[in-house]
Amino acid sequence: MTVLSVKDVTVRFGGLVANDAISFDVAQGMLAAVIGPNGAGKTTLFNVISGAMAPTSGTVHFNGELITGLPQYEVSQKGLVRTYQLVQLFKDLSVRANIMTGFHRVTKGGVLAALLRPRWFREQEARIAARTEELLDFVGLRAVADMEADKLPYGQQRLLEVARALAAEPSLLLLDEPAAGLNMQETAALADVIQRVNRQGVAVVLVEHDMQLVMQIAQKIVVIDFGRKIAEGSPAEIKAHPEVIAAYLGGTEGLDD
Ligand SMILES: Nc1ncnc2c1ncn2[C@@H]1O[C@H](COP(=O)(O)OP(=O)(O)O)[C@@H](O)[C@H]1O
Ligand SMILES: [Mg+2]
Repeated sequence: MTVLSVKDVTVRFGGLVANDAISFDVAQGMLAAVIGPNGAGKTTLFNVISGAMAPTSGTVHFNGELITGLPQYEVSQKGLVRTYQLVQLFKDLSVRANIMTGFHRVTKGGVLAALLRPRWFREQEARIAARTEELLDFVGLRAVADMEADKLPYGQQRLLEVARALAAEPSLLLLDEPAAGLNMQETAALADVIQRVNRQGVAVVLVEHDMQLVMQIAQKIVVIDFGRKIAEGSPAEIKAHPEVIAAYLGGTEGLDD
């Protein structure tokens, strides 16, 4: 089954065509990557898919449903959740509290429920608390659960973002350059988390510059350059694709290190 279907997505900023009729599909449970040079249009594409921005033309279907033009909160309520190229945590809140903010898609109740605390509300709180502890273990942040988010090393902030996104129970997770700025160990920890998320049945699309990471974990790679999709295929196919090598490296080097 197809989880995500992007069809002819075009985004114009004045005279600039940031996305030029981009189409691709992501199958259920797949781990896919979107790569391309800086300014190629990757974040713009994520903005369109996640509902942060309406495309100039084209459509996005999620689980068979047209979601183009829906606001981002509605898209995330349907199970399509993203993280950002720049870390966006609540800096002064603890690691644990940051994860808890991710649950609001799957929780109910307003101010009145919080005041009266009926039984279903207390049960929901208990479920959230238990799931938060599971997520702390899942990403390996239990030891720093009470620390303020901005006191964490950058690699752990990235893991925290993933944990918070998982609190919303996504069926598709979009990660925009999750390994940017991470050292090798941090990147390895992140790759492990992404693969474990994926093995639990969550489809993942990541935008990533770390080619080694992409080649290691992605099942399918979509390459964009100047807003156009220039290739799509398995890591082996992409490595051997002449247009990709030319666009990505601007020369004769291969994609192997
Ligand atoms: N809101 C915007 N207004 C005008 N131009 C934009 C806007 N967002 C992105 N761009 C331009 O669109 C192009 C693609 O940007 P982006 O999607 O951020 O690329 P990438 O994520 O691949 O580095 C760039 O030339 C960028 O300057
Ligand atoms: Mg970007």
